[in-house]
Amino acid sequence: MLFIGVDLGTSAVKLLLMDENGKIHNIVSRDYPLSFPKPGWAEQNPYGWYSQSMEGIKELIKDCDKSEIAGISFGGQMHGLVVLDKDDNVIRPAILWNDGRSVKETDYLNKTVGKEKLSQYTANIAFAGFTAPKILWLKENEPENFTKINKIMLPKDYLAYRLSGVHCTDYSDASGMLLLDVKNRCWSEEMIKICGISEEMLPELFESYEAVGTIKPEIARQLGIKDSVKIVAGAGDNAAAAVGTGTAGNGCCNISLGTSGTIFISSNTFCVDKYNALHSFCHADGNYHLMGCMLSAASCKKWWLEEILNTNDYAGEQSLIKKLGNNQVFYLPYLMGERSPHNDPFARAMFIGMSMDTSRADMTQAVIEGIAFGLRDSLEVARTLGININRTKICGGGARDAISKKIIANVMDLKVDVIESEEGPGYGAAILAAVGCGVFSSVQEASGKLVKVTGTVEPEKALVEKYEERYQKFKKIYPAVKELYQVFAGGNIWDTEKI
Ligand code: XUL
Repeated sequence: MLFIGVDLGTSAVKLLLMDENGKIHNIVSRDYPLSFPKPGWAEQNPYGWYSQSMEGIKELIKDCDKSEIAGISFGGQMHGLVVLDKDDNVIRPAILWNDGRSVKETDYLNKTVGKEKLSQYTANIAFAGFTAPKILWLKENEPENFTKINKIMLPKDYLAYRLSGVHCTDYSDASGMLLLDVKNRCWSEEMIKICGISEEMLPELFESYEAVGTIKPEIARQLGIKDSVKIVAGAGDNAAAAVGTGTAGNGCCNISLGTSGTIFISSNTFCVDKYNALHSFCHADGNYHLMGCMLSAASCKKWWLEEILNTNDYAGEQSLIKKLGNNQVFYLPYLMGERSPHNDPFARAMFIGMSMDTSRADMTQAVIEGIAFGLRDSLEVARTLGININRTKICGGGARDAISKKIIANVMDLKVDVIESEEGPGYGAAILAAVGCGVFSSVQEASGKLVKVTGTVEPEKALVEKYEERYQKFKKIYPAVKELYQVFAGGNIWDTEKI
């Protein structure tokens, strides 16, 4: 049997073909554009996700025995708002997870409704990237679009809908909407009321490993596959990545470095931190997890190397880094504001500490270190909860090189287990498809059997000490400049006139 995992990312859709033994037969990637209509806004066209996924699947399966394909599942960029009208047309471009336009609505939710109530209803507070504040933004700013809404969905669910005709989502992805009662795994009536929508607009909820239905016959024909192929609900990309790295069950950790950077801690029981600094979400294995999310991780490296240094030679630039632990330069990775733990859409990236002898390599090193320090901020919150993590898995494009893994291991003082397939969400999605097709009895069993650790990057005592000192300095920068971000933004970051 063969399974297709679709990782609907921010810059591309990555498709992966896996058999029931976990062997990867093919991987295909298809890009699509991302638009930033205003500073801090991020939008994408759902039709582009669909057409690129369909083209990608055709290429993915062109050389395999198509009758062997049994299931398709998804890992998708979370929190995005996709709205359809009564004729199934996309009403406006999707507003993405890293879009910070809903500052006012986020403030309303956190301050007027109140964090305590939000946490009671959903186990989370509002962050500008979450779906509920975006719904409120739409209501206020585009009432003509708001009144057209017939269906609300998340990015990967739009694909599942086009493929199966079922308006579905899964608990892990739904957790990031701020509309789900995470603890009880059901929609929150209170949040539905607050957002001025109806439950009928929201998708049907499934566990990530449950089949929502089968592929539509006309789509099966287009792809040349059987119309018995199951469409399995799938998960938010971080939960899918966790499945793909074997991060299921209690107290396991995964770091994912894509456009965003996340630290994901699985848990058999529901839990929330005191300040809701970490997200408390459902996991794709049927349990729960805590997660810290930085909005710009691998995208910082991409920005620095490709946009500023004007090079694609990542390996060449990174090979110039020679003094780990001894850099005078610091970088704050807040290119799109920051989510965890600061919850500050006004924050922006910065370098600090340069002098006449600062080299290009120091700046590149500072960027990679800044990403690791940002992740450490979230790990520290987990540590305050008494969660004792000493090792992690790792996946994502931003962590493929040895130097990033080494910096993360030492900044965070964690043993970093390297997985045979670092495909994270795509591999996890294929595993979910296999569970949905009955090959395994649970997600934990499947990922336990299929995911293989091939090596471990150990933290080194001397380097950990140096990085501890540097982290203590890093921690002081954001509080010192926080007020300035507000001043620069003139109280309203989107009002460029005032900046
Ligand atoms: C998680 C988050 C990001 C996106 C990226 O809360 O916002 O990791 O899912 O695709």
